[in-house]
Amino acid sequence: MKVLVIGSGGREHAICWKIAQSARVDKLFCAPGNGGISKVAEPVDIKAEDMSGLVRFAKSNGIGLTIVGPEAPLVNGLVDVFQKEGLRVFGPGKRASMLEGSKVFAKEAMKRWGVPTAAFEVFDDYKKAREYVEKKSLPLVVKADGLAAGKGVIICYTRDEALKALEDMMVNKKFGKSGERIVIEECLEGEEASIIVISDGRHVVPLATSQDHKRALDDDKGANTGGMGAYSPAPVVTPEEERRIMDEIVVPVIRGMAKEGMPYKGVLYVGIMVTAEGPKVLEFNVRFGDPETQAIFPRLKSDLMELIERSIDGKLKGYAPLWDTRSCVCVVMASGGYPGKYEKGKEIEGLDEAEGVGDTVVFHAGTRSTAEGGGEKIITDGGRVLGVTGLGEDIESAIKNTYKAVSKIRFENMHFRRDIGKRALAHSGIIT
Ligand code: AMP
Ligand code: GLY
Repeated sequence: MKVLVIGSGGREHAICWKIAQSARVDKLFCAPGNGGISKVAEPVDIKAEDMSGLVRFAKSNGIGLTIVGPEAPLVNGLVDVFQKEGLRVFGPGKRASMLEGSKVFAKEAMKRWGVPTAAFEVFDDYKKAREYVEKKSLPLVVKADGLAAGKGVIICYTRDEALKALEDMMVNKKFGKSGERIVIEECLEGEEASIIVISDGRHVVPLATSQDHKRALDDDKGANTGGMGAYSPAPVVTPEEERRIMDEIVVPVIRGMAKEGMPYKGVLYVGIMVTAEGPKVLEFNVRFGDPETQAIFPRLKSDLMELIERSIDGKLKGYAPLWDTRSCVCVVMASGGYPGKYEKGKEIEGLDEAEGVGDTVVFHAGTRSTAEGGGEKIITDGGRVLGVTGLGEDIESAIKNTYKAVSKIRFENMHFRRDIGKRALAHSGIIT
């Protein structure tokens, strides 16, 4: 079968890397791809936003399955458009994608279904939101309703911060239409984990657990980013906690969506806060996590194509993928300045040496291959540049292996966290 993957990040490289190993795949394309993806998939010069271009490509090249990486095309209805054209595609349709596309939709749905999440209020009137914030206890969390490229959630420790968040979103329209409605919610305390599941609309299969590192600097300091590293499994999610997450959160959501006429087919990412009262939902995403996927797929022994096709065909009942029992760590190497302003075009050295370390794979995110100045080379082309990923018998050796690979790579002004996996170590009683 010919397969098309849409997207250009580290997540899409991990998807392509895993899909390319499947015996079901004869030819793999990625639109638009990046400097690393082109080693496993043929790049197609069409952007993820160009829906009609993608449909045209899929039709004229006999694509048997399309896999969508990022959320924006899903929320914009790419799956519905492909299906209408008779094209086979993996992911939730436009209505089901509201779980990520509208925080108000997700919060109200959770309330209807009795799914544990932070207490919240919804506002579309700036004056009323202000009045509420004036008398509410702190900290609190202000969220833009719609997609905001991961920047629409502000944790406010002071009243001034909260008032500024309201003004930015509702008056200055920092996120355009996405911020016209907002959610103000209680700030939850605990440890975060990512639960990623695949559903066929009625049945659900959990993937391995994982944890992201959202802040730019060590010890969870600095600005929020798209994610600076991940590991899998996440020991904070004990087998008992995982059962609660499935029973109290995932199953009620899949059941609720089906009952309300929007059966959920595809990947569902549930951001969880493990609180003293049990697991609560922070957010839903309708796609694989980035960089969680980079830490999960090297542990997946089963064929990802089988999982995806079973989801599309409604055949997930009783299916359990096989997992490598080893731990996996992904360290994101970023451009100097990220998540703020950064420069592109820096040559990256040491990629082969990093993969030569053994049980390692370097997933590319913001990279591009170029022949400028003679000779093929890989240069930086984004904020998050690489996801250096390594396996190990336990979390400690996975961390060692991964950082050994990281030490082989160089580009001007690179930065990365040196404490990825530290929280998992603490769970094993290892203090660094
Ligand atoms: P979201 O875009 O909804 O994923 O939120 C991004 C990040 O904000 C989450 O991963 C958490 O770190 C944090 N966050 C969101 N909601 C809350 C909350 N109610 N309490 C504490 N932290 C939160
Ligand atoms: N790692 C967070 C996300 O994918 O949204």
